[in-house]
Amino acid sequence: MELRRAAITAVGHYVPEKILTNAELEKMVDTNDEWIRTRTGIRERHIFDQGPTSEMVVKAVQNLLLHRGVSAEEIDLIIVATITPDMMLPATACVVQEKIGAKNAWGFDLNAACSGFLYALSVGARFIESGVHSKVLVIGADKMSSITDYTDRNTCVLFGDAAGAVLLEPSVEKEYGILDQCMYSDGSGGAYLNLKAGGSLNPPTHETIDKKMHYVFQDGKAVFKSAVVCMADVSDEIMNRNKLKGCDIAWLVPHQANLRIIDATAQRMGIDSSKVMMNIDKYGNTTAATIPLCLSEWWQAGKLQRGQKIVLAAFGAGYTWGSMLIQWSLASPEKP
Ligand code: COA
Repeated sequence: MELRRAAITAVGHYVPEKILTNAELEKMVDTNDEWIRTRTGIRERHIFDQGPTSEMVVKAVQNLLLHRGVSAEEIDLIIVATITPDMMLPATACVVQEKIGAKNAWGFDLNAACSGFLYALSVGARFIESGVHSKVLVIGADKMSSITDYTDRNTCVLFGDAAGAVLLEPSVEKEYGILDQCMYSDGSGGAYLNLKAGGSLNPPTHETIDKKMHYVFQDGKAVFKSAVVCMADVSDEIMNRNKLKGCDIAWLVPHQANLRIIDATAQRMGIDSSKVMMNIDKYGNTTAATIPLCLSEWWQAGKLQRGQKIVLAAFGAGYTWGSMLIQWSLASPEKP
């Protein structure tokens, strides 16, 4: 039996209105706009103060369903990639299912930090390819402000809140859709990027709170070194495996953690910076949301066009990392 391909047939995103600028952070911690911009590429980030992660997801998904003309009841499976679920249990996917009225769907959360969306897309694609399902919602969403210590300058300048979503369906033409992927993880990286308390290792106590163990910890230098190498390697690998050159790729869609990591990846792939989706300046690192947010923004702007080959690449806590090659199948939105 010939395998079906999975294709992205709709995209949506939500970014909260409230903005936290570098100038505002200067008043909160010992930092400055110039340092943040030159070391990370970030100018501002958005903060969601209207509820939990699922509320951002609902807004992103409603947007998507509207565009596609698909009802929530038609969804078979919901995968939410997040490290900031509404609660430890139930899964945010179940909360979302109820809120959007996806009565016929099942769902689960997936934790792969900044690679979460890529991992979730890979898992979702298998359900389409195998013929088990025909409509899978893959979501990347994080309310990073809920696990960020706004007295720690090493991390608080980096993160923002957002949600992005895509719909996977069987591709109509077999040359379109998700063509290939390279996925990795290396648990030895866990020491450098983690959130130590709240799980079974360190259940919450007054002491874990006093020691600020419920916030993200990052050894920035160590993570930076691994991220540069892994994101460039895995992007190079998918290009070589598919005999592609930089000129064959319309867009590199990188996880938005640091401008310098993105530049190094593009350079290694031989891709000009004009072909790199980049919105880190506006949103910072929104963890699992960065890649679907880019896809949705670029598609809405009419810059992501049917037939284009794109490469997705991410690196995150775990360590986890990966790349994916897609031939874009969704036609540009109609001009009003
Ligand atoms: N403002 C001003 N100075 C700051 C600062 C801030 N917000 N944060 C850190 N510094 C200081 C450090 O304390 C250090 O000072 P010291 O030399 O006196 O100790 C100095 O700036 C340089 O720090 P360093 O860690 O070398 O900076 P860097 O060039 O590595 O940039 C990061 C820091 C966090 C931006 C960078 O390491 C990074 O992006 N890491 C990877 C992030 C990532 O990819 N995550 C992946 C998944 S989320």
